[in-house]
Amino acid sequence: MMPKFEYNQVVNQEDIQRLGNILEQCFLMSSGDSKIFFNRIGLENFYVIRAGKQVAGGLATIPMAQWWGGQRVPMIGIAAVGIAPEYRGDGAALSMMQQAVQELHAKGVPISTLYPATQRLYRKAGYEQGGISSIWEVPTQSILVKEQPLPVGAITGDHEIFHELYQQQAKLNNGFVERHQSLWERIFKPDEKETIYAYLIGSAEQPQGYIIFSQHQDQDGSFIRVRDCAVLTTAAAQSFWSFLANHRSQIKNVRWKGSAIDSLTLLLPEQTAKQKSALRWMLRVIDVVKALEKRGYLPGIQAELHLEIQDDLLAENNGRFILSVANGRGEVTRGGKGEMKLDIRGLAPLYTSLFTPQQLQFAGQLDATETALFAATQIFTGASPWMADFF
Ligand SMILES: CC(C)(COP(=O)(O)OP(=O)(O)OC[C@H]1O[C@@H](n2cnc3c(N)ncnc32)[C@H](O)[C@@H]1OP(=O)(O)O)[C@@H](O)C(=O)NCCC(=O)NCCS
Repeated sequence: MMPKFEYNQVVNQEDIQRLGNILEQCFLMSSGDSKIFFNRIGLENFYVIRAGKQVAGGLATIPMAQWWGGQRVPMIGIAAVGIAPEYRGDGAALSMMQQAVQELHAKGVPISTLYPATQRLYRKAGYEQGGISSIWEVPTQSILVKEQPLPVGAITGDHEIFHELYQQQAKLNNGFVERHQSLWERIFKPDEKETIYAYLIGSAEQPQGYIIFSQHQDQDGSFIRVRDCAVLTTAAAQSFWSFLANHRSQIKNVRWKGSAIDSLTLLLPEQTAKQKSALRWMLRVIDVVKALEKRGYLPGIQAELHLEIQDDLLAENNGRFILSVANGRGEVTRGGKGEMKLDIRGLAPLYTSLFTPQQLQFAGQLDATETALFAATQIFTGASPWMADFF
């Protein structure tokens, strides 16, 4: 039977035009701005969903990778999911997401990540909460960090050194992405009237971090928006704060992107930093075996977990698997006792350490024996997952 909605890569000029119009309408973009978007992400990464011959909507698949347990796992970010208003409420978006997930599996992709405007839609395609992205704010007057052990020097442009330092930081954080070029462009391309300032923390020979920011004004006063930063050592963290504190005569607040309980706040004298917003992004395990084998695990852990997974969309992910972890790596074989039963959705927050196995059992996301809960707790213990990027 022909599916009601057909999913294809964008092929011709007509599709591009139509998808551009739909995305501009869906995401309140100015007329013509979809072209910039297509150029940044690359036309080859856009797909459309058709109802009959008509393009009803589309999405972008952004090739990246994500760091889990110190290892790089290839990941596709899904963005710009949009359906024209006249086609909404009829299952077009769900059909598009399901076909996108099947296509990613066929291509051998281990995991996929997205920011949901609504969870309902993506849960139905097997995604679940995977990590957090939050914005923190602190009044500059309250930073009070005076020691600046390292020089902080201005440098211009999208310099290679930022990519190197970012990479070092990404490796240490669960959930950080290997950025697609479009994400770097977002950091460095100012909007109208914005100026971007970039500083290296530490000497040019031995940089230990960087800070890239712009200065703004809103109803609450002036603020620095840290567009991106890397802070790799204690000395860099102190220098980061003292550099920002030195803006206190004109700048009221500093906003930066951080994790759920951001560790940079531990250097501040009082609890004056507040979380302004927190978004949870979602992850889907596209290929169980690849996802579990490509990520890293704590080197000292040696454990075996017997899983029984149900995936209504991807037949290959169904059934029993044994995950054996040793020396920081995992090996997956088929079979075993199926001591932890879960839907593919429940595997996402387990894989990312967003919740503990006990918490996931409590929330009805998995059903496991004591032995399996203990093994899973050892295997998936990790730092709270987050990422600094939005897509
Ligand atoms: C969100 C959007 C893609 C949904 O498209 P759609 O074709 O109407 O969605 P579907 O008919 O396939 O719905 C699939 C499921 O998601 C649910 N859903 C869809 N839109 C929803 C919304 N805005 N809020 C809550 N649930 C929603 C549907 O109710 C359905 O679940 P159900 O079967 O349990 O009722 C569409 O409204 C849109 O393009 N909006 C503007 C752009 C946007 O916000 N995109 C999402 C970016 S992450």
